[in-house]
Order: sequence, then C-alpha cells, then structure tokens
Amino acid sequence: LGSEELRQAICTYLRTSRAVRCEPEQVMIVSGSQQALEITARVLMDAGEAAWVEEPGYWLARQVLRAAGCKIVPVPVDSEGLEVAAGIRKYRRAKAAYITPSHQFPTGVTMSAARRLQLLDWAERSGAWIVEDDYDSEYRYGSMPIASLQGLDRSARVIYIGTFSKTLFPALRVGYLVIPHDLVHRFAGIRNAMDLGPPHLYQAVLTDFLNEGHYARHIRRMRLLYEERRSALVEGLGRQFGSRMQILGAEAGMHLAVTLQGRVRDVQVAERAASERLWLVPLSSTYFEKPARQGFILGFAGTTTAEMPRQIRHLKSILEL
Ligand SMILES: Cc1ncc(COP(=O)(O)O)c(C=O)c1O
Repeated sequence: LGSEELRQAICTYLRTSRAVRCEPEQVMIVSGSQQALEITARVLMDAGEAAWVEEPGYWLARQVLRAAGCKIVPVPVDSEGLEVAAGIRKYRRAKAAYITPSHQFPTGVTMSAARRLQLLDWAERSGAWIVEDDYDSEYRYGSMPIASLQGLDRSARVIYIGTFSKTLFPALRVGYLVIPHDLVHRFAGIRNAMDLGPPHLYQAVLTDFLNEGHYARHIRRMRLLYEERRSALVEGLGRQFGSRMQILGAEAGMHLAVTLQGRVRDVQVAERAASERLWLVPLSSTYFEKPARQGFILGFAGTTTAEMPRQIRHLKSILEL
C-alpha cells in the first residue's frame, strides 16, 4: 500500500482538511490519479460493464475505462453537477460512476448536497461504486473548501482519489486512494501485480514535508498567489471580450473554462495558438458525444499576474485572425 508513515500523514490531512473518513489501512499510495483510476477499473469493472462519466468530463478517466473494455455512459452536468436522474434514465444498472464533485472538470461546478445524496442513494440501492476524483479541491477562492463526498458515504460505496499533482507538481507522480475496508485486499492484489509499490525515496521526503507543516503552509501561500492570478485572468478576459465570452468555474482550482459566441473552431484555434506557444485546451475535447460546446480551458496558475494581460491580448489576436 506504500509507506506507513506517509499513509498516516495523508490520513490525518484528509480527515482534517477534506472530511474524508479514513484509517491509514485504507490508504494506498499510487503514481498519481491516473494509476488510481487504472487500479480501480481493474478491480471493479469487467469488460462490457457500464460506467457513468461526466459530460463534459476528464478524457483520461474515459481512456482508462475504454482500455478496460467498459461501456462508457456520458451523463450531463448542469449547475448542480452530475444529473443523477439522467444517469438513471440512461443506464440505471451501471457498475460505477466517475465524478469530480468538488470542482467538476472542466466546467468547475460544485456538486450540490442534494445531488451528492441522490448519487449515494443510487449507488447504495443498485450496488454501484462511486469514484470520487478530488484532484484540486485545496484551491478554492472566496469560500472554504467543500467537504468530500466520501465523508457523506455510510455504505462504503465511494473510492476516493487524491493527488499531489496540483498542490505540488505533476512530474512528482504521487497520489493516493482511500479504499473501502472490504476492498483493500483486492486493490492490493492488483497493485502488487502492477509494480509492487511506490518508490520509497519520494514517499519519505513527502512524509517529512507533510509532518513538518510545509505542505499546509505551501497550500496557504499558493492559494493567495493563484487567487491573484485568477482575478487577473477573469478581469482581463472581461475587459477584452466582455459579454462575448462566458467564464465558467473560476471559483476554485487552477483553471477556468470559457465558451465563445459565434463559429469558433476551438481545436483549430488551439493548434494555431500552440504554434505561437500559447497553450489552450479545446473545450470540445472534453465531450464524449456531439454536439460539443466550443471554448477553451485556460490554466492560470502558471502565468504571473504581470504577464497575464499580454497573454490575454495574444489570445484575442489569435481569435481575431
Ligand atoms: C480531473 C483530473 N483528475 C486528476 C488530475 C491529476 O492527474 P494525476 O494525478 O494523474 O497527475 C487532473 C489533472 O489535470 C485532472 O484534471
């Protein structure tokens, strides 16, 4: 499962910061959310079984399910998060639902309490699993972080996934799973077959980083910095584009999404922008089904406040071509 000291440190952090109900024996250290998803799919899903995914949603989660031979059931997301009733109408007997309830990827919606309870109720009644990907919940601006869905679960139906990719850096490749007690053995079996376990050195360093308080301090500092960068992006977009651009999900995380009016082809624009070293993720690539909304996912954490206006003018000039 990984280093006992690190699992203990993560457990303490999750209990206090994310209201996750866990014991160190349920925590497995993995190489990022991606490995967590892969192990989860191998344990829970057989080829041909169905899983709900958010529409639009995280393509790398869909990729794991596709590789496992699963049937992917896209379920729409509205202002309250995944539309559970639509999922039930489309495919009641799905085996699992993959969701990002704290900060939906890519729309940034926070799943409402009512929807969380509805989803848990469906999972409990139908014996389905909920895979909660809590990838960037530490960064929430203007309000306190939203508690995890796992903390509401009374029937051990939730597999919780977290990562250090957003709070520290993605090349670290360290994340974690919180597994319901009765599934730990099966998860450990698959993990052993894969790579025996995570590298020890990074775990030891990370344990010290957490236990000595650096991690909490780092998050507090970065939250202020990212909030400033986010505001610079939101204000700058408003100034340059006004009502022609709709901004989604700027309350949390390290990215926001924008949709555009008119006949913009987001994939083509993103390719043109990339040739000029401006990185936009086309929003349409997060849709499983057509028609997809056209727009972009814009990361703001890696651009300084001073640099932001120039990058926004660059975006505008590319869109005007
Ligand atoms: C929805 C979602 N989950 C997870 C991650 C992090 O993935 P990993 O931990 O594999 O780096 C990201 C990163 O962008 C993400 O957007």
